[in-house]
Amino acid sequence: MDERKYIDEAVSAFRALLEEQIKRQDKMAAAAGSREENGADGAVKKEQVTIGIASGDGIGPVIMAEAVKVLKTLLKDELASGKAELKEIEGLTIENRMAKGEAVPAEVLSEIKKCDVLLKGPTTTPKGGTLESANVTLRRELDLYANVRPVQVPGEGIDWMFFRENTEGEYVLGSRGIEIPGRLSMDFKVTTDAGTRRIARAAFDYAKAAGKTKVAIVTKANIMKKTDGSFSRICHEVAADYPGIEADDWYIDIMTANLVNPAVRRDFQVFLMPNLYGDILTDEAAEIQGGVGTAGSANIGDRYAMFEAIHGSAPRMVEEGLAEYANPASILKACEMMLRHVGFSDKADRLAEALAICLEEEKKVVVTGTSDGAKAAEFGDYVASKLK
Ligand code: IPM
Ligand code: MG
Repeated sequence: MDERKYIDEAVSAFRALLEEQIKRQDKMAAAAGSREENGADGAVKKEQVTIGIASGDGIGPVIMAEAVKVLKTLLKDELASGKAELKEIEGLTIENRMAKGEAVPAEVLSEIKKCDVLLKGPTTTPKGGTLESANVTLRRELDLYANVRPVQVPGEGIDWMFFRENTEGEYVLGSRGIEIPGRLSMDFKVTTDAGTRRIARAAFDYAKAAGKTKVAIVTKANIMKKTDGSFSRICHEVAADYPGIEADDWYIDIMTANLVNPAVRRDFQVFLMPNLYGDILTDEAAEIQGGVGTAGSANIGDRYAMFEAIHGSAPRMVEEGLAEYANPASILKACEMMLRHVGFSDKADRLAEALAICLEEEKKVVVTGTSDGAKAAEFGDYVASKLK
């Protein structure tokens, strides 16, 4: 194909992308202020709660089995009375997704939409090819715009809450870049006004409710002048509605350095970031807490919410025969966030206490991710024994 033809095709593709993204922003702007049945914080307020359970693949089924074990112990009465239901979601496996050629097969998505919240095990994304990450698809299809990730190191006074924009930035058009083979490749990053405003609101609402006094806005606005520049500006506009909460700008490079600096890191409270920086910074933060195997993640929208481990499906552990040694702490942390979200705060507190005993105080069963450590099932039993 000659160069002119590539350019013409790319230009018309770009026009279509622009029109589509303007539509998406206008739809979000129209929805702002008319939040749906879950209330302003997105939390579920219902008499009966349906929790979707999708095990995923790789180490997913191993750690999810422990999550289900713990949920069945904690919600024994609610499950018996019908106040809560665990609904198995089938077909979110790499085999089925590859066979169907869909990141989240349509019938699986429609089952998920029947649930109030989804607890999801990690799902594998094949490298190359065209199959999109199931995470990215679910976040987009369910409009889960706030990726909320807590990280705590109580011994060091670290109590961080990360608010990562979850539906735009580098991710929204991630598989729709332009390539002129042998010459160049180009991807797109999108920051919309409404998309930024809603994540900023989520972060400042949290800060206000939790009595926090500082929000760190993390970008690279000195270089990504349009996208990150707008993100920072809009976050400051939103901050103006929250007197008493200080909004500070930080660049992502120095922030990654700050997190490994024990002299300053405990001073940070709430972080507010575009998608890709949030992806990277939260893995770093999780490692400081004790490893990515210890961190939970909530994906919250106005209608749906999805809870998961911060990490992936760990195919290397599976290949090495170590799947059963995977750490279920991450998905158990996600369970805690989910229980709080659906209004079972007392259960969430009980789980938090049990996890604190098992992970920080007694440490009688320690999962290391290798065969020297305990198995996921042993840790699940340990946590369940502290719930009685
Ligand atoms: C995460 C993961 C995902 C992401 C992957 C699995 C697409 O790393 O939830 O942080 O990049 O968002
Ligand atoms: Mg990540």
